[in-house]
Amino acid sequence: MTKQIYILNGPNLNLLGQREPEIYGRETLADVEARCAAIAGPWGVQVRLLQSNHEGQLIDWIHEARNIACGIVINPAAFTHTSVAILDALNAFEGPVIEVHISNVHKREAFRHHSYVSARAEGVIAGLGIEGYEAATRRVLTLVGA
Ligand code: DQA
Repeated sequence: MTKQIYILNGPNLNLLGQREPEIYGRETLADVEARCAAIAGPWGVQVRLLQSNHEGQLIDWIHEARNIACGIVINPAAFTHTSVAILDALNAFEGPVIEVHISNVHKREAFRHHSYVSARAEGVIAGLGIEGYEAATRRVLTLVGA
């Protein structure tokens, strides 16, 4: 079976490139997918980029990843700060998990400073723009020995 990295994205990230570009930039999730695929491809690893505005859908994809993916890169967006359920789902996944935030959440409102997902993640990247997804993909490849 081809190795896969799941790149999961939470609410409002479907609007990446249009939404608050001064914070999140002008590139889209399609750009993120292309950049990460270019990094993973030479190692024989596919990326599967998914986005949902619904918590349960993200949880279902994390469960699906248990059977298919060697690692998860996740930007849970606002669910970062609220979702014990996503944390629990990630705890049921055995491979490496890297948490990504496009913006530097620590420079923003206090409610963005706490992440439930960080309690599970091998690494946390914030404030590198969409380059954070590339760094996270590289880190997963290192951790799985690709
Ligand atoms: C975000 C930061 C979150 O606080 C916010 O709710 C998002 C995006 C980021 O990528 O910087 O939607 O996860």
